[in-house]
Amino acid sequence: MHIPITKPYFGAEEHRAVAEPLETGWVVQGPKVAAFERCFAACTEAPFALATTSCTTALHLALVALGVGPGDEVIVPAFTWVATANVVEMQGARPVFVDIELATFNIDAAQVERAITPHTKVIMPVSLFGISAPMQPLLESARRHGLKVVEDAACAVGAWYHEHHAGTLADIGCFSFHPRKAITTGEGGMVITADEDIAQRVQSLRDHGASKSDLARHLGARSYVLPEFNVVGYNYRMTDLQGALGVAQMGRLAWILEQRTRLAQRYDEALTEVGWLRPPVLPAHCRHGYQSYVCLFQPESPTVANVARLCTQRNALMDVLETAGIASRPGTHAVHMLGYYRDKYGLRPEDFPNAYLADHLTLTLPLYAQMTEAEQDFVLTHIVEHHLQG
Ligand SMILES: Cc1ncc(COP(=O)(O)O)c(C=O)c1O
Repeated sequence: MHIPITKPYFGAEEHRAVAEPLETGWVVQGPKVAAFERCFAACTEAPFALATTSCTTALHLALVALGVGPGDEVIVPAFTWVATANVVEMQGARPVFVDIELATFNIDAAQVERAITPHTKVIMPVSLFGISAPMQPLLESARRHGLKVVEDAACAVGAWYHEHHAGTLADIGCFSFHPRKAITTGEGGMVITADEDIAQRVQSLRDHGASKSDLARHLGARSYVLPEFNVVGYNYRMTDLQGALGVAQMGRLAWILEQRTRLAQRYDEALTEVGWLRPPVLPAHCRHGYQSYVCLFQPESPTVANVARLCTQRNALMDVLETAGIASRPGTHAVHMLGYYRDKYGLRPEDFPNAYLADHLTLTLPLYAQMTEAEQDFVLTHIVEHHLQG
């Protein structure tokens, strides 16, 4: 048996959808991207949704739209995908890392207050693996200090915080449609916002700074009048092939989330008998999007002193799973320990100890909508029967 870490779900609708732009010839950002944006806005209840080429470019546009530049600081969690910090560097600003809570793997809101300086411009929490960041206290900090909030909701389609979909409480929310996510367009991203001015800026910035999109120009009168370019923009336009795929994927989103949640709950139940592998911890007011099912390997209480030994044990389990044909992965990175950030800012493991522990001890189990219970039981059998060594 071969069980991948995840697998996109494509059916006849996706095949039909991508064929359409090939037939009409409109393959760049156009009617299908617009349709995808409408679906996404409706699903998240966001007033504006703007597609991009990836979540990385969505985050980059968010910072450009907010005027982040040299001399500014942006608060980011120390445990996240490297893109969260990279987009801050791309703007010549400084990412200020804050440690995470080991329970949720999300930024520790209490520590955010202490990281705010007169240079702070934006708080950029991440709703990691499908669990919303602690938005309420973060928004209170932002309000108190006059800061903007950009939520990296790359993994958070289907994640809710109270009655708010991920990304909607922040000034700007950014999503990813990379194949590791619940729905995919190959590469792809989305910016959502309730602020019309920000939406207009993002719309222009993703399209070379044009004052009008190609679609609007071609569909309107005097289509020969070219747009104005008042700002320096980028080419971060999603293709209509991806837009069409996105619409088809949105049609299955509810079913995909249902299946992922059902399977995650089966994992939860089975893992109660495995004391050394802690299932995801979901705060009471949150609904999990289950982009990934990420456990914490903790045969004993982890510390910076014992983490190397525990990590060796975790890796031994991952080797056993791989030999059996089962893919597993660490959660994500302690970004402060990645070469660029470690060297540029002189950071040490103990600066953000929970991020360091999570980096070494997280374990992502396979999860995809079409996973059979037989496949899941195969994974569980190998975990339950695994004997920890030394
Ligand atoms: C937390 C987080 N932020 C940003 C990204 C970047 O997304 P993309 O690959 O769409 O650029 C990812 C992708 O995995 C992510 O997990």
